[in-house]
Amino acid sequence: MMMPEIEQAFNRQVNAETYSAFLYLSMSTFLESKGLRGMASWMRIQFDEEMVHAMKFIDFINERGGRALLGAMEAPPTEWDSPRAVYEAALEHESKVTGLINDLVDLAIKEKDHAAATFLQWFVNEQVEEESTVHDILDKFALGGDHPGFLYMLDAELGQRAPVAADEGITP
Ligand code: FEO
Repeated sequence: MMMPEIEQAFNRQVNAETYSAFLYLSMSTFLESKGLRGMASWMRIQFDEEMVHAMKFIDFINERGGRALLGAMEAPPTEWDSPRAVYEAALEHESKVTGLINDLVDLAIKEKDHAAATFLQWFVNEQVEEESTVHDILDKFALGGDHPGFLYMLDAELGQRAPVAADEGITP
């Protein structure tokens, strides 16, 4: 059984992960509208990953005898100043999510919910990877600036990102 406080906090994270998914989908359509199909594809895969995250929380809540609830969600932004600004916003967003995950770990430890704390370890590691990946992309932007030739090359590189594997998809 889950303690109500943890169940509510996990449900808020379902909302946060779903928001993340919509944020990246919005970034994807923005980048597509600028002709950056590789970056748009990268963001669409990011959308898929965030839906996997949301589903992991939903499944965990339900497995523990709780009830996963879907609530209203804030609309994501639709415009950014540049492709680089999109990735800067992505990093800022992931930093916030890392804070949310850390807060959940603190709560699980405080309530001595070891199953929840163990479950959350996957997300702790995932956040390190997510922040690092976007950091690397921003380092490339810093090297190449907004030069069209550089954007063309980076777009092609980011378009090579592999999709979420079928066995990591959102349907069990
Ligand atoms: Fe689900 Fe990008 O954190």
